[in-house]
Formats: sequence, structure tokens, C-alpha cells
Amino acid sequence: MDLGLAGRVVLVSGGSRGIGAAIAASLAREGAHLALVARTADRLEEHASTLRSAGATVRIYPADLLDRGAAQRVVDATVRDLGTLDVLVHNLGGSREDGSDAAWDFTLDVNLGAAVRLSRAAVPVMSAKKRGVILFITSISGTVVGGAKPAYNAAKAAEIMFARSLAKDLAPHGIRANSVSPGSIMFPGGSWDRRNKQDPARIAKFVEDAMPRGRFGTPEEVADVVTFLASDRASLVSGADVAVDGCQLFPSV
Ligand SMILES: NC(=O)c1ccc[n+]([C@@H]2O[C@H](COP(=O)([O-])OP(=O)(O)OC[C@H]3O[C@@H](n4cnc5c(N)ncnc54)[C@H](OP(=O)(O)O)[C@@H]3O)[C@@H](O)[C@H]2O)c1
Repeated sequence: MDLGLAGRVVLVSGGSRGIGAAIAASLAREGAHLALVARTADRLEEHASTLRSAGATVRIYPADLLDRGAAQRVVDATVRDLGTLDVLVHNLGGSREDGSDAAWDFTLDVNLGAAVRLSRAAVPVMSAKKRGVILFITSISGTVVGGAKPAYNAAKAAEIMFARSLAKDLAPHGIRANSVSPGSIMFPGGSWDRRNKQDPARIAKFVEDAMPRGRFGTPEEVADVVTFLASDRASLVSGADVAVDGCQLFPSV
């Protein structure tokens, strides 16, 4: 299937490691031109170099997306350097769960607030040409309770509904919006890898109880779904929350 993504300009937030890095690699294989955003310039440059050595066009924009002006700056820089913006993938996310106001503010902002600011910056570019795709990497934690993560659950639920609201409002402008909700994804240096090293017996029990397929997901399994949704081959998919979880029963321990 030709996805028709060659030359399309895609901005990926949190595109330097984990799921975001795999999304960037999957899109690069389809010939998309990439704008990658994360805070740590060295790691961004390292990933960009790997992608460029396979022939990809990649620009990096080191920025902290919790900084209120950063979203507009990176979208403006993308349009300046790569000519336009066709697809926004807001992959950045995270949580702090000590119940304090600061933890709630952080968790809502890193998931929902950054999604709002990036969308606000991207929509005028997409509206002007009556074409665009907005994808948020959310989580099954936004729809299924599991693990002691109320702030993360609430933030991801809000992000899922934000995507659905955008889908309705932006349909007349030719813009699709969806959320993609991974189950638990394992990769070296990621949160599950760290937890597995700390307490392998607990994580083995989690796999047994929650994952009918008997294993974690991989970043690549999420990335290829995102790449399909970014393409015009998914032209009727908008306002959806697409689970990529192998029928996982609950999201965390
Ligand atoms: N891993 C899972 O099991 C899982 C499951 C379900 C959903 N998800 C969701 O999938 C997404 C990616 O998860 P992940 O586990 O791959 O994440 P991760 O390993 O923590 O990577 C996060 C990425 O975001 C960047 N980043 C962090 N804070 C930033 C900030 N303030 N401004 C700009 N960039 C920032 C990081 O680079 P720097 O640190 O250099 O900035 C990195 O590139 C998140 O939305 C997460 O909630 C993950």
C-alpha cells in the first residue's frame, strides 16, 4: 500500500526516544520530511543523524514544550525550514502523581496543555490549505483505570476528548484529528524497562494478569499505526481513539 507520505511535513513532539523516535523512523521510511522536538539537543541530533544516514530529511528543534511560547516557535520554524506543516504528532506526555497542585499542573500541562498549544499553532497552517492531520499519543489509561495514576488517567482522558472535539470542529477545514492509545510499551531506558529492572517479579505478574498476548508492546507497533493514520489512506478515520494495546486488560500496576 502506498501511503502517499513522501514529502509530507510531519512535526513529532518528543521525537528523540521511545515511541516518538519510532514514529519518526516509521514516517521517515515513507519519505516524510520530519521536524523533531525535544529538550535535549544531543539526543535529538543523534536520532536525526541516524534517520538522515538512511536518506531522510530531518530538522531538529530543541525546546521545552512546557514553555508557553515554544509550540508557536517550533511550528513557525518548521514552516520556515520545511515549507509547510501537513501532520502534527503530539507524542510528548508524562505524569507526576504525588497529589500536589504542582504534580497535577505538570501532568495536565505536559499532556493536554502542550497538545492545545501545538494544535493552536498548527491549525492555521493546515486550514489555509484545507488539509491536515493531528494525532495525539494518549494511553489506554485515558479510558481504563489501573495503577495509582489519577492525574495521568485524567490528563489522557482529556487529551482523547480534545482530539475528538478538534475532529468535529476542524472537519470542514479538511483536517482530521485522532488519538492513538498505546497499552504498555517496553523499550530500553523506558519507564517499563526501569520498573522491570527494579522489580521483575511484579512486572512478570502484571504481564500475566493484564496482557493476554503475554508480552509488552513495542514502539514500532505503535509507530506503524500512527504512520497509517497520518496518511490519506486513513481519510475516513477522524474523531477516533485507536487502541494499540494487544487487548491489554488494565494499564498499570
Ligand atoms: N511507554 C509506555 O508504556 C506508554 C504507554 C501508553 C502511552 N504512552 C504515551 O506515549 C508517549 C510517549 O511515551 P514514551 O514512554 O515513549 O516517552 P519517553 O520515553 O518519556 O520520551 C519522551 C519524549 O519527550 C521528550 N520530552 C519530555 N519532556 C519534554 C518537554 N517538556 N518538552 C519537549 N520534549 C519533551 C523527551 O526528550 P527530552 O527528555 O530530551 O525532552 C523524549 O523525546 C507519551 O505521551 C506517553 O504518555 C506511553
